[in-house]
Amino acid sequence: MGFYIVNNYSIFVTGTDTNVGKTLVSCMILRSFYLHGYSVVGYKPVASGCYKDIGMIKSKDAELLIENSSIKLDYTLVNPISFLHSTSPDIASKISGKKISLKKITDGLNNLKKLADIIVIEGAGGWHTPLSSKKMFSDWVKSQNLLIVLVVAIKLGCINHAILTVESIKNRNLSCVGWVANKISEDFKYYEKYLETLEKKLQIPYFGDIPFIKNLKINNIEKFINLKMFFEKFINNFNKF
Ligand SMILES: Nc1ncnc2c1ncn2[C@@H]1O[C@H](COP(=O)(O)OP(=O)(O)O)[C@@H](O)[C@H]1O
Ligand SMILES: [Mg+2]
Repeated sequence: MGFYIVNNYSIFVTGTDTNVGKTLVSCMILRSFYLHGYSVVGYKPVASGCYKDIGMIKSKDAELLIENSSIKLDYTLVNPISFLHSTSPDIASKISGKKISLKKITDGLNNLKKLADIIVIEGAGGWHTPLSSKKMFSDWVKSQNLLIVLVVAIKLGCINHAILTVESIKNRNLSCVGWVANKISEDFKYYEKYLETLEKKLQIPYFGDIPFIKNLKINNIEKFINLKMFFEKFINNFNKF
């Protein structure tokens, strides 16, 4: 098909905000690589707003990543750090007295790299989400030199958020391999105009847009999204790095 084998890619999925479709896009990447025969696992190093499940604190995001990975892994391998509080990880960490260790996050990634060709890492919140008083998620991404995919939920204010995020990624000498537009509301005025403006302003590869899907269920997204087309765009751009 003209694609060459990619191996040991760690893809970091960030967004212009929380609730923009990072989990959806992470699952799309997982499913499309899986459909093309790759072994692929999701990683949600830090999750807040979790729930209690028989003595464990679990994140719905991590559970979706597990469901959509090609290898079924133990929960804690996919989500080593979790908080019940629905707030920024640094605040959740302070309230609960559980420190967020960057080493733990890195060790977790290194473990997964031994198990699969591709690791899809979902961040928490947006690009500069704080993990402690000193470190932000973006600092960890820099320490690992990860390739980044940006999810932009099309809503008021997203152009500014998207430009700032791409600018910051570039300023850190990291690579944003592309961005995905997500139509998170049914009718957004000037949707197409927003896409046009974003394409012009961001100047990074555009992987396409995800339609608004009523009662979205990730286990049947291929009914609504052409995963093969997304995969081709992903691969073509990843292979440039
Ligand atoms: N294209 C879409 N159509 C309909 N609902 C969507 C779409 N994208 C995301 N959602 C919904 O919006 C919410 C946030 O999406 P999610 O992927 O969890 O965002 P994030 O991981 O950035 O917080 C979820 O309830 C999800 O089902
Ligand atoms: Mg999420």
